[in-house]
Amino acid sequence: MPSLATTVDGLRFPNPFLIASGPPGANASVIGRGFDQGWGGVICKTVILDVSQIHNVQPRYTRLRAPGTDEIIGWENIELISDRPFHVWEDEFKAIKDRYPDRVLIASIMEQYRRDSWVEIVERCQEAGVDGFELNMSCPHGLPEQKMGSAMGECPEVLEEVCAWVMQAAKVPVWAKLTPNVTHIEDPCRAALRAGCQGVSAINTLRSVMGVNLETLRPEPTVEGYTTLGGYSGLAIRPVALRICVEIAAEIAESHPGRTLSGIGGIESGQDAAQFLLVGCHTVQVCTAVMKRGYDIIQPMCDELLAFMDRHGFATIEDFRGHSLPYFTTHADLVRRRNEARRSATHTGDERTMSGDQHWSAEEFVRQSRSLSGN
Ligand SMILES: Cc1cc2nc3c(=O)[nH]c(=O)nc-3n(C[C@H](O)[C@H](O)[C@H](O)COP(=O)(O)O)c2cc1C
Repeated sequence: MPSLATTVDGLRFPNPFLIASGPPGANASVIGRGFDQGWGGVICKTVILDVSQIHNVQPRYTRLRAPGTDEIIGWENIELISDRPFHVWEDEFKAIKDRYPDRVLIASIMEQYRRDSWVEIVERCQEAGVDGFELNMSCPHGLPEQKMGSAMGECPEVLEEVCAWVMQAAKVPVWAKLTPNVTHIEDPCRAALRAGCQGVSAINTLRSVMGVNLETLRPEPTVEGYTTLGGYSGLAIRPVALRICVEIAAEIAESHPGRTLSGIGGIESGQDAAQFLLVGCHTVQVCTAVMKRGYDIIQPMCDELLAFMDRHGFATIEDFRGHSLPYFTTHADLVRRRNEARRSATHTGDERTMSGDQHWSAEEFVRQSRSLSGN
């Protein structure tokens, strides 16, 4: 029987599935539910020392369904970080760690661009017993207006400086949570690792506009007739998240071997998780799927991951972590490999006849498009 247990940055997780920062980690009661149901670890909803600027609105979610079905494939939110006073969180961190001493509780933290504030929040969370930190450098709405969240994550120099402040005070592992809303994820990734963070987490939500209501002509989610740019999550973002994890894993391998990556974005099953682990993630995080289906999805997710491992003869997560990463290459290399394979074997069919754009035919367009798909 394979084992899902894994140790990352010295933290011992019974399985690699963590609750991502968000509503499923919004207070001690729901965090306890996460542990009771068997989640490998919980990252709390992002906390801040002074909540006086945190005012949520309703509605703050809007969801995208697959056409003609009820299936939710995308989720936009304009939710801010936790609006609960920091002293309440301190008490709850202590209470959670008293009740679940051997489970991993990670504090997601955010602060203004002030050294003293970051040092204070780190020290007080540590005092309350948290096992690690995730730095929220990535929330794409509301907080960037106050120069926090993705406003920091989009600027590698600021990110590096803030991470360095944290690293001077932190006695437990620190992961910087990166925003996908940048052109080259390698830049903020390198900045966080240069500052000494043990790892990075990716991705937070993609900046989005879910849609415009064709009756009211107002964008959604509509608050008093208006909206603001939101953050997109769920199944639909998985390919983007996976791509970013590939880029980060390659960057870590090249510039900071040994540092770690927590993969996030559209993970809903054990099979999804296996793919993030195969490209080099050490843990995976889940938010929207818990909001859609509840905490007890953890059991089928573990079973699916175990079945995958069993099928391939992998005894531990370490046996296959990063296994698929070497198979990403340049397009030019694909062409070279294809030409080589053609020379040594026979490749026939549509691929050859569709080798140039002059072969597209208006009558055959859909069939030809299908024939160029690998699945
Ligand atoms: C309603 C909602 C609230 C969120 N709040 C936070 C937060 O407070 N801090 C944070 O770092 N990420 C937050 N996130 C982002 C998630 O942790 C996660 O990075 C993102 O949703 C992608 O993962 P998913 O597709 O599994 O949801 C939130 C996401 C959602 C949907």
